[in-house]
Amino acid sequence: MNEHEFFLIVAPGLTDLAALELEEKWTAIFTLAKRIAPDLTETSLQYTKTAEGITLEKVPLLAGVLLNTYLKTPTRILLRLGSFRCRDFPKLYNKCKKMNLGQWLPPGPIRIKASASKSRLMMLKRIEDTVLKACSRKAGESEDAMLWVRFQDDTCTISVDTSGEALYKRTSEKKVGQAPLRETIAAALFYKLHLLAKEDSHVFIDPMLGSGTSLSEALNFWRTHKRERYAFLSFEALQKFSIDSRLFYNQEMAKNPFDHLVGYDQNDAALTWAKENIKSQTVVLKKRDVLGSNTNLSDVPQAGVLFANPPYGKRLKLPVAPKIYFQSLWEAIARDFSPNIAGLILPRENCKSIEVQHPYKQAAVLHFMNGGLKVSFVIYRKASQIR
Ligand SMILES: C[S@@+](CC[C@H](N)C(=O)[O-])C[C@H]1O[C@@H](n2cnc3c(N)ncnc32)[C@H](O)[C@@H]1O
Repeated sequence: MNEHEFFLIVAPGLTDLAALELEEKWTAIFTLAKRIAPDLTETSLQYTKTAEGITLEKVPLLAGVLLNTYLKTPTRILLRLGSFRCRDFPKLYNKCKKMNLGQWLPPGPIRIKASASKSRLMMLKRIEDTVLKACSRKAGESEDAMLWVRFQDDTCTISVDTSGEALYKRTSEKKVGQAPLRETIAAALFYKLHLLAKEDSHVFIDPMLGSGTSLSEALNFWRTHKRERYAFLSFEALQKFSIDSRLFYNQEMAKNPFDHLVGYDQNDAALTWAKENIKSQTVVLKKRDVLGSNTNLSDVPQAGVLFANPPYGKRLKLPVAPKIYFQSLWEAIARDFSPNIAGLILPRENCKSIEVQHPYKQAAVLHFMNGGLKVSFVIYRKASQIR
């Protein structure tokens, strides 16, 4: 099978984690591909990272598209179809025509995502119309038929989306509360905590669970998506395999090191949504005001891996000044849960606000954007856990 180039779109700030996830899951993805095409020759993983994502080279088509089923950090996966110098519309038309782009698209209208920078051709609407004409298609809002046309310094790169619906849309009927965290971000941050914990702890706790995104991601990180539709299923080149999507619907690909997942929220509605979203008896959900004077700690898990996405004081207001709020939150977390590792998402300007006491030390900080806000994931760890 021919080798192809793929591009994983990842939220800025999280590409290092996406690469680690890719490395960890590559063999399992290849194993899945070999179940569909037993003759597939194993290839080693070759990739490069940029701020926007990861480029994989020399990947068999089937293995590349199956990345969609198991990776939790990328937003979308594109298949590169070609790259060429181009400074006029007739050339764009002829090149696209020759590429027979229709073989990558189901019948019907298609969506073109055009962008241009430092190029002679900068009129996005005309670029879009030219590509549509070359494929003899109309423009439409289809999620399963999307071409990406990018002009950079007069080089045009054409890619087809292999994902379909964005990969952070894990369930169609998800109930969301205020300021939910995007699934791809929650997965990346959970994975960061897991990598630092190195399987020392089997308990994962979210004391402000909202609609339960972090718990759901923790529960499903080593399973394939609960999803049967992907854009790649209509690629002509893959029809010979008659792919049965049940092969990769919610499959356990590796054992989850966390066997105890616990979430709390002070809000009844949040607990109801989380219960509906997570749909698992193994996750324990309880009402609790993490900042209250909680005296009964008998069933509160200790020495676990804790994740918190508190209100930031921007869209969700805080009762006191941010510095005081985040400090009290940290003190309540350390006192009641005594986590081995804890990661808190904080507004970027407050990422140094918390003063931690012995035995805790700051272990890592990740900067990224959440819902248009600059935030940081600040990770603290017991000194005895630092090796
Ligand atoms: C930003 S939201 C969390 C969003 C969540 N990560 C998600 O993806 O849906 C903050 C959550 O903290 C909860 N919360 C705020 N103060 C709390 C407190 N003192 N104790 C427990 N939960 C609290 C709110 O009810 C809300 O559900």
